[in-house]
Amino acid sequence: LGDRSLVVASNREPYVHDYDDGEPTVERPTGGLVTALDGVVAETGGTWVAWGSGDADFDPAVAPNGRVDLPPEVATGDSDDRPGYTLSRLDLPRRLVENYYYGYSNQVLWPICHLEADPVNVAPDFAPAYREANRRFAERICDADPDVVWFQDYHLALAPGDVREAIPDARLVHFWHVPWPTPEFFEICPQATELLRGLLGNDAVGFHLDRYAANFRECVARFVPDAALTPAGEIRYEGRTVETYASPIGVDTDRVAANAASDAAEHYWERVAARYDLPADRSIVLGVDRLDYTKGIVERLDALSYLLEQNPGLVGEFTYVQKGTRTRDRIPAYRRYYDDVRARINELDRVHGTEDWTPAIYIEEGIDDRELAGLYRHADVAVVSSRRDGMNLVAKEFVAAQGATAADTPGVLVLSRFVGAAEALCPAALPVNPYDVSGFASTIGEALGMDADERRERIGTMQAAVREQDIDAWLAAQKQVLTGTASVVADD
Ligand code: UDP
Ligand code: G6P
Repeated sequence: LGDRSLVVASNREPYVHDYDDGEPTVERPTGGLVTALDGVVAETGGTWVAWGSGDADFDPAVAPNGRVDLPPEVATGDSDDRPGYTLSRLDLPRRLVENYYYGYSNQVLWPICHLEADPVNVAPDFAPAYREANRRFAERICDADPDVVWFQDYHLALAPGDVREAIPDARLVHFWHVPWPTPEFFEICPQATELLRGLLGNDAVGFHLDRYAANFRECVARFVPDAALTPAGEIRYEGRTVETYASPIGVDTDRVAANAASDAAEHYWERVAARYDLPADRSIVLGVDRLDYTKGIVERLDALSYLLEQNPGLVGEFTYVQKGTRTRDRIPAYRRYYDDVRARINELDRVHGTEDWTPAIYIEEGIDDRELAGLYRHADVAVVSSRRDGMNLVAKEFVAAQGATAADTPGVLVLSRFVGAAEALCPAALPVNPYDVSGFASTIGEALGMDADERRERIGTMQAAVREQDIDAWLAAQKQVLTGTASVVADD
């Protein structure tokens, strides 16, 4: 961004320091935001403010207190011209984390943005904690005296309002990584107006899709009486103009392809195949998810069960591999979901398994992105079946990991219509409605039976789409918005 100083702010930190049997460890948390931003912030440089969630994050023997310079191999990425960034961790008290992160962020905003009313839990302590955490983020951001601030996601809706008050001339941009709901749904949120006012502290608010941006503008029109929408789609608020824009996030396609071709990918696959006794000709159906109720894993397992019920000829023909990562498990709805997924996998085996065939296996071990690419590369079918998802990077990673030569038989992607990635990938990806068990099951059946020519044709179309909207394209668009060099009004 030239000589302008940048602060990036997200709840989740890119690296977590913990202890394992007393020994310090460093890990990358699982989730699309961190996957996407890590390389991006290494390009832009600046300071990254995030919650220090690891037990060893503030241990002076592991990392210096508060402001942490990343070790050079982390800070500089893999190329010399990457300036790296400084990580500035916030030490949030346990009670605040409980009510701000596990509470308001993930029991109020996350379900509301994903159109899930049942898990919404508006406990009285949540909103004050969210305000307090946002105030602390804003304070830390202002300490760095930034010219430009780039807020990430739904944990930080109020911080832009606070920073605007403290540094009126700073350029503030927010990227919202989850869907934005319609006004009819957003009004479940008792703090709807307050949150929108916080976000209107920004100069620009970005979303993955035009329709999320349109929903946001409709919510502003409905719930912020003193804001006005201009015919050009801008928002006038408190004497300023706030723009909204759509910019679909993507993946580093070269990196994913190189990972998929690496020895580590192959070796990992060989280990998995040996561990679970998977013959070379067995078709693999793959799911890769944080174990979140928005991901439609239960619906997927029900569809697989129905598929086997309707097609006994498929018994022994494929194995479903679920790579899962536990997530947010201090929240009861997430613990129940985990138990549900595990129970259904066992049930599949009980009902459909045979002496020498287990229909579904579950892998929870932490693996790196090259090992994960090994799973992608060897899958004949990948299923992404979110009930709702802002974008979904797993879908794009799977596409980028498939071999593109005539010698390869690429995998087929079965993709929920309700994820952001469907806009660019369907109908080359087979679209499904995860709520429709019989339609979902027959689409998985169709994917399993698809011939090599059609697979190649479809993957070619999808790879072109994933390359066109890759992480570099997203970064270039964000840089324009951050520097204010382009009008970014979403046109729809
Ligand atoms: N991921 C992973 N291991 C898992 C599940 C997911 O490494 O068990 C990674 C995946 O490769 C992707 C990210 O986590 O980069 C998930 O991003 P996505 O947008 O699909 O969903 P999110 O988890 O952010 O809702
Ligand atoms: C989604 C959210 C991110 C979040 C990630 C992982 O991608 O949009 O903000 O970081 O999930 O969830 P977690 O709660 O572990 O940060």
